[in-house]
Amino acid sequence: MPPTSPRPRLPLPARTGTIAVIDAQFGDTGKGKFVDLFADWADIVARGTGGANAGHTIYVGDKEFVFHLLPSGILKKHTVNIIGRGVAFDPAVVAHELTLLKKTRRASGKLRIAYNAPVVMPQHILLDRVREHLAGQGKIGTTGRGIGPLYEDQVRRVGITVNDLLNKDLLRAKLTRNLSEKLLYFKLADKTLLRELLHMPLLGSGAFFHPRTLLNVESLIDAYTVYGNAFREFVDDTDSYLRGQHGKKKILLEGAQGVMLSVDYGTYPYVTASDSSAIGLARGVGLHPKDISATYALIKGFYMTRVGEGPFPTELGGSMSARWCGDGEVNKENEFSRVPEASPNHHDPFIQGVGLRIAGGEYGATTGRPRRVGWLDLPLLRYALQFGGTSLILTKLDVLDDCEEIKVCTEYIYRGPRVAVGQIKLTPGKKLFTAIPAAEILTHCEPVLKKFPGWRQRLRACRRAGALPRELRQLIQFLERQVGTHASLVSVGPRPEETVVL
Ligand code: IMP
Repeated sequence: MPPTSPRPRLPLPARTGTIAVIDAQFGDTGKGKFVDLFADWADIVARGTGGANAGHTIYVGDKEFVFHLLPSGILKKHTVNIIGRGVAFDPAVVAHELTLLKKTRRASGKLRIAYNAPVVMPQHILLDRVREHLAGQGKIGTTGRGIGPLYEDQVRRVGITVNDLLNKDLLRAKLTRNLSEKLLYFKLADKTLLRELLHMPLLGSGAFFHPRTLLNVESLIDAYTVYGNAFREFVDDTDSYLRGQHGKKKILLEGAQGVMLSVDYGTYPYVTASDSSAIGLARGVGLHPKDISATYALIKGFYMTRVGEGPFPTELGGSMSARWCGDGEVNKENEFSRVPEASPNHHDPFIQGVGLRIAGGEYGATTGRPRRVGWLDLPLLRYALQFGGTSLILTKLDVLDDCEEIKVCTEYIYRGPRVAVGQIKLTPGKKLFTAIPAAEILTHCEPVLKKFPGWRQRLRACRRAGALPRELRQLIQFLERQVGTHASLVSVGPRPEETVVL
């Protein structure tokens, strides 16, 4: 471990300002570290998208904390932390995280929860899991946290909000309405599967199971009003609060997932169910996208990952890797013994991908699933940056320390059937400089890879831009020119001080 040095001085607005930290790829770019660093600057940290499907790791000294829903400023005494209206609010997860927080024995920031945020309930998690189970090959590969069914309910106008948990009669009426159609669906599903799922700890370990009606509505009402009482002091009109503070305070908007997983802009249908771009983030906290003065877009430095199903043109090992990562058998503990020859320099792309996954510790924070690994994809990045990104942050660069050669995808060659995309006619052999995100197109895009020499140097001790190896600086300049966006920070290790300001 390199010696500890002070936290870096970040290029942030001196007085007030609203900034956003988002992920310009498929999530998991290491937002936690930067949101935590930026939270030193912020008076207010707000989440506006995603839910317990996201997970960020924060280090306090040598201790590691994984939070899914509490904003990253929660460990800072003077920060107001907001779980905004756009967040999929899972009371069980928040209750657990508040208990964890107490265990840190550190003074925590103030918490405010949007009274109108949609609430994830056991029926959402159940539905998410039953559907994925039934979908077989057609599954999305969700995190199984009920996110899709939750937002569906919101659009279907049968959602339950945080405020309903404070009012038992309201909750009963809304829950009855919410469940009516779902219970019909569950009647057709496999009873053994439903019973098993409802006995998982995530679903109350059987507390909500009813042998005849499947779900015990009264115990749901009791449990969720207990949560309501526990959270009562935090519940607020956070949209109005933030609008009132905008322009007066330093506000940090903390993104979740990544632009390419956005339901509006991502690789539909292999996406999450909220808009994880900067636009969705602003809306999710009651602000206008134009209220954001700077958007820091995170990408992994020169490789990429994706969890779950969906197209991934630069994936090392292609469909073999996708199957390997999706079969449920592989995990952090057993992968190296299954592929002992794994190395970031192996000539076989699949084995090379395993090597990079092991080097980068690329296993899901929420599900433990192995993340699919591929090279940096510029057509996707050019596309993603259209939805926000005033500057780039490159993370996990030290993962490539041992790589002899690094490849970057500069454009695609379309290899699929003739198809019209609006006015664009795609024919086999056509070159694409910017990605068209529809899954049925991306699946047929072959990456054109440009090779660069690796740096073969330990980056973790670097603290100044001038100390970065020449090969890396050239690669960063190439990237900046290719996407027309400046890189402002790079991360050379997981610790806050392992950061270089460019
Ligand atoms: P859901 O958000 O659980 O519905 O999952 C939909 C898709 O988004 C799946 O491919 C998930 O693997 C992916 N996903 C959701 N949250 C995250 C995240 O925080 N990191 C990476 N992928 C995610």
